[in-house]
Amino acid sequence: MTNQMNDDNKEKALTVHSFRAMKQKGRKIVMLTAYDFAMARAVSQAEVDLILVGDSLGMVVLGYDSTLQVTLEDMIYHTQAVRRGAEDGFIIADMPYMSYHLSWEETKLNAARLIVNGGANAVKLEGGSPARLDAIKAILDCEIPVCAHLGLTPQSIYKFGGYKVQGKTAAAHDALYEQALKIEQAGAFLLVLEGIPEELGKAITDALKIPVIGIGAGRYCDGQVLVFHDLLGWSTSAAKFVKTYADTEKYMITALNAFAQDVRSGTFPARENVYYPID
Ligand code: KIV
Repeated sequence: MTNQMNDDNKEKALTVHSFRAMKQKGRKIVMLTAYDFAMARAVSQAEVDLILVGDSLGMVVLGYDSTLQVTLEDMIYHTQAVRRGAEDGFIIADMPYMSYHLSWEETKLNAARLIVNGGANAVKLEGGSPARLDAIKAILDCEIPVCAHLGLTPQSIYKFGGYKVQGKTAAAHDALYEQALKIEQAGAFLLVLEGIPEELGKAITDALKIPVIGIGAGRYCDGQVLVFHDLLGWSTSAAKFVKTYADTEKYMITALNAFAQDVRSGTFPARENVYYPID
């Protein structure tokens, strides 16, 4: 986990302010998802700035066909595990579907549970409608930093009719641009842009003072995020915006088959794997 130095040259944990400073300095921000202790431990040892416990866990960890089935309890459980693996990391936890739609009381309580029970530093919610802007303000009213998420927001797939690139028409482009401006005015500290044309990603990034993290939003955002499993070749995602950096699933299957062969051939366990061997 990347840390910055304070005046005494001691390592200091990143805060909401660190990311805006990175934008100002033109230093690209690296975000990656993680969903459990082991993944968080790996991400912490890599040069990653912040961890997102995304509700994508519903698909890549729990095997659902969308993120809509993910519950607040799922998010708290996984955020706790990530915190144990990334003690000093800056962790954003996704607010799952319907956890910020019903009343401000519930919205505030659910956000607070992700912070207090889950151990997150901030929460993320999807959309930029007037109701979502009010949700952002309500959560900020509880002193909880909010990351917003616009564009191809996976919790809206039924409204969109599938995982479709957003902001392609002039009207949709302008609407997303306006929503991004209002999200900054509402007080969000970070914005994730997903599945939009590169020109719109650039226009929003240039217009905002808060950092913009892209996933399928082009090359000009202030940073990029990917899903852990997609990056490591451990998912079935065929999205254009994914770059696979390792064929982890293939390596794992090779190792699993080596274990199976060793057991069947009697090569494992060997003498060195045995307690008080009899020979
Ligand atoms: O749930 C998630 O992992 C996300 C990222 C894809 C941005 O929201």
